[in-house]
Amino acid sequence: MKIIPCKWKHHAALAELGASTFYETFRPHNSEEDMQAYLANTYTPALVQGNLKKSGVHYFLGYDELGDQGYIKLIENPVGIKLEGKIMELEKIYVRTSAQGSGLAKLLMEQAAMHSKQLSFNYIYLGVWQENARALAFYKKLGFEIFDTRKFLLGSRSCDDYLLSLKLT
Ligand SMILES: CC(C)(COP(=O)(O)OP(=O)(O)OC[C@H]1O[C@@H](n2cnc3c(N)ncnc32)[C@H](O)[C@@H]1OP(=O)(O)O)[C@@H](O)C(=O)NCCC(=O)NCCS
Repeated sequence: MKIIPCKWKHHAALAELGASTFYETFRPHNSEEDMQAYLANTYTPALVQGNLKKSGVHYFLGYDELGDQGYIKLIENPVGIKLEGKIMELEKIYVRTSAQGSGLAKLLMEQAAMHSKQLSFNYIYLGVWQENARALAFYKKLGFEIFDTRKFLLGSRSCDDYLLSLKLT
C-alpha cells in the first residue's frame, strides 16, 4: 500500500473516488434524490480542481495493487472550533468498502498526523455522523476524543455529528 500527495492531475480520480465512497457510505441511509443533489455539489472534477488549487487544502490518495482505494482531505485553520492552538481539519477520510479493514485507513491517518505536525499544527479535528459506528470505533482506536456536537444537512435530512480531536504531540 502506498500514500501519495495529490497534484492537479489527480482531480478526476479524486472526484470518482470521492463520489463512489460517499455513495457507498450514505446511500443506505438517504434518498437517491438527496444523494444525487449532494454529489452534484461536492464531487465533480471541476469542484475538486478548484479545491486542489486552494492554499491550505491538502489531499492524499491511498493505493494498493488494484488501484486507488482511499483518500484524505485536510483543511488548515477551520473557523469556530472550540480547541486551543493550531487546528487542522480532517474534512474527509474515505476508503472503498473493499479496502476497509486492510490497514489503509490507518496509513492515511498517520499521513494526516505526520503532515499536520510538519506544518506545526497542534490538533487534528473532524466531524462524524453519530450513527457511523465503524468510523467512530476507528477514530477512538487511534486516540481521538469527542469534544462537541453539531448538525449536518444532507439534502432534506438533518444529521447529528460528533466533533472529535486528536492532540498531536
Ligand atoms: C472510517 C474508515 C476510514 C475506517 O477505516 P477501516 O479500514 O474501516 O477501519 P478499521 O477496520 O481499521 O477499524 C474499524 C473498527 O471498527 C470496527 N467495526 C466494524 N464495524 C463496526 C460497527 N458496525 N460498529 C462498531 N465497530 C465496528 C472494526 O472491527 C474495527 O475495529 P478493530 O480493528 O478493533 O477490529 C472506513 O471504514 C471508511 O472509509 N468508511 C466509509 C467512509 C466513512 O464513514 N468515513 C468517515 C466519515 S466521518
